[in-house]
Amino acid sequence: MASNLIQPHGGELVDLLVDDATAEDLKAASRDLPSFTLQPRHLCDLELLLNGGFSPLRGFMGQADYERVCSEMRLADGTLWPMPITLDVDPKTAEAAQAAGRLALRDVEGVMLAMLTVSDAWRPDTSGEAEAVFASSDPDHPGVGHLMRSTAPVYLGGTVQGLQLPVHYDFTELRRTPAQVRASFDEAGWSRVVAFQTRNPMHRAHVELTRRAAVEADANLLIHPVVGMTKPGDVDHYTRGRVYQHIIKRYPENSAMLAMLPLAMRMGGPREAVWHAIIRKNHGVSHFIVGRDHAGPGSDAAGNPFYGPYDAQDMLQDYTDELGVTMVPFKMMVYVPSSDSYHPVDEVDEGTATLSISGTELRDRLASGDDIPEWFSYPEVVAELRRTHPQKSKQGFTVFFTGLSGSGKSTIANALMSKLLERGGRPVTLLDGDVVRTNLSSELGFSKEHRDINITRIGYVASEITKHGGIAICAPIAPYAEPRRRNREAISANGGYVLVHVSTPLEVCEQRDRKGLYAKARAGIIKEFTGISDPYEEPIDADIVLPTVDQTPDEAAQTIIDHLVAEGYLDSIGD
Ligand code: PPS
Repeated sequence: MASNLIQPHGGELVDLLVDDATAEDLKAASRDLPSFTLQPRHLCDLELLLNGGFSPLRGFMGQADYERVCSEMRLADGTLWPMPITLDVDPKTAEAAQAAGRLALRDVEGVMLAMLTVSDAWRPDTSGEAEAVFASSDPDHPGVGHLMRSTAPVYLGGTVQGLQLPVHYDFTELRRTPAQVRASFDEAGWSRVVAFQTRNPMHRAHVELTRRAAVEADANLLIHPVVGMTKPGDVDHYTRGRVYQHIIKRYPENSAMLAMLPLAMRMGGPREAVWHAIIRKNHGVSHFIVGRDHAGPGSDAAGNPFYGPYDAQDMLQDYTDELGVTMVPFKMMVYVPSSDSYHPVDEVDEGTATLSISGTELRDRLASGDDIPEWFSYPEVVAELRRTHPQKSKQGFTVFFTGLSGSGKSTIANALMSKLLERGGRPVTLLDGDVVRTNLSSELGFSKEHRDINITRIGYVASEITKHGGIAICAPIAPYAEPRRRNREAISANGGYVLVHVSTPLEVCEQRDRKGLYAKARAGIIKEFTGISDPYEEPIDADIVLPTVDQTPDEAAQTIIDHLVAEGYLDSIGD
């Protein structure tokens, strides 16, 4: 049966998976070749390379493609492509891969997923890339942050042969390749399809918007949520997956399909909108919905948005003729109580009363346990969200102390633990500096590298405790800002995080010198001693600063309890 669907980008749906015999040969060959363990983002990119979601790409970009994509949003041959798809590796791997000409790409379990035939290796100018692609150098932009903090120094380009797709065990029926999605459209007799991209749970406004879009475009609907990597802090894809399964039942029969897309988003706003449209085109989609602030990274530290709310629509509009995908633009939807219906904000008469609940307000309502009205969402969706987002006073949290040796961290941490245990309600674990160094980090010393490992380990344990609804109290020196920041990011994704700076001045700590360590440090007997012969980076992001000089440990612990009550992590009387 001939398909009436839109042609893939570049004319042909790429399929990089090799046959079984070739896969066996490649696996055998890999024994004498270097290997590389793919990071989560590489895995997402590889999956869409292998299954044709990134057609016409046939591998990770070489330097010529990369440079033209950055500067002009085009591959070296002129094909429109807005986002670099690169494989960043450490210099050692790069050297070995170049020497061998090939590199076995593996998942964390060591399963070989693909073979890269290396065409180029170069050290990219990641700041230049950030400016070109994201129009920003601010690491608060997740795409820029990834380039600045998490990108290895060498890019390897080259074609890829796939042995198998990355393995998934969740929602396997919904993880559908472009070929499978196209086959379903053909089978259903659909030729015009409008896709809705989302990284958030869907509520009534989204259902109303997508239904309208389908009517306007005279098309059927593909709900196509991203389940690869989205913006840090987003609702996890398991919860969202269950939500979408409820939501799809809210559409008229045979009008909408649901499929999950294993994409690693960059939050690149306008460029990302064009990229999303190309990926959907490869899935057989002819129309693409772009709403307000599509793939937006939010605002910078000063509160200014990185992109204008309709920049993404404007950019995609410029390329719709070339792409052949029609953009279906949407303004924000608002609820009109008088007619119990939703409308785009610009279609509501002036003076008409409207209601809306922002993402922040929804989070606040979940956190406080307040009502979420039926005009906003469906009861089954709210129930799913409440299951994974219990109100704050039931969530886990971490109180992370930082301060010099002898500043009083342990004493206050112990006082805090007693007060929390007296209230009861949640299990409490104290990860004191000395205790951790005995039980978790006994082989570590006090070099910067070892201290970072120590703090990362503490953060990992605290994050797990927090995720499981417990309270973790951590009390290391934690002298460096970067591992503290990473811990905050990881722990906040699982519950509460409070950074307490015990800011006792060095002179006071040294004068107290309870353990006699300062004297030894001054005498040079102990090396790399924090505050004496090693740095302490004062936190600028502390939630509480304790000036312990004029405060008893009891008062200091009470200050923290008061903060936790004010933030909603503890009930005001008991727990
Ligand atoms: S860190 O930097 O966060 O990994 O340090 P931490 O795990 O909290 O360990 C600090 C305790 O180890 C003792 N000690 C030292 N501290 C700092 N610098 C050096 N070189 C050092 N050598 C040993 C010291 O007793 C610290 O305990 P506290 O409770 O902070 O006084």
